[in-house]
Amino acid sequence: MNKKIAWVALIATLVAGAPLLFAADAKELFEKSCASCHGKDGKGETPAGKKLKAKDFTDAKGQAEMKDEQMIKAIKEGVKDGDKTKMKGFGDKLTDEEIKQLIAYIRSFKK
Ligand code: HEC
Repeated sequence: MNKKIAWVALIATLVAGAPLLFAADAKELFEKSCASCHGKDGKGETPAGKKLKAKDFTDAKGQAEMKDEQMIKAIKEGVKDGDKTKMKGFGDKLTDEEIKQLIAYIRSFKK
């Protein structure tokens, strides 16, 4: 194959595959950092999730009530109930881009 065409084909493949890669990253990130409470399925039906009353992310009504800014704030700064920390913040561990991807991933749980 012509070298130039090979490059174009390679780049096209990478560009087309990027969204899939991102999606896989968000899934991995969520399962690593968040699923212990929110559950791999987003329902929050883990022992920790039940104890802390994590929301059911598959619930359409709950999703509608969660604004993106509110989610960003929760992920960055954590969630507190009075003095008690329900969820610790991830602001020092995740980039804005990763947080955006996680929110998109959480949105995808909606039924
Ligand atoms: C220690 C358990 C725990 C971990 C780990 C955890 N969360 Fe939470 N999270 C909670 C609890 C409890 C709440 C408050 C109740 C609720 O809204 O689900 C909450 C709330 C949220 C909210 C706000 C929901 C709203 O009402 O606005 C978002 C968004 C969220 N978590 C995302 C994440 C993401 C993303 C991660 C991983 C980076 C994560 N959580 C890790 C327990 C946890």
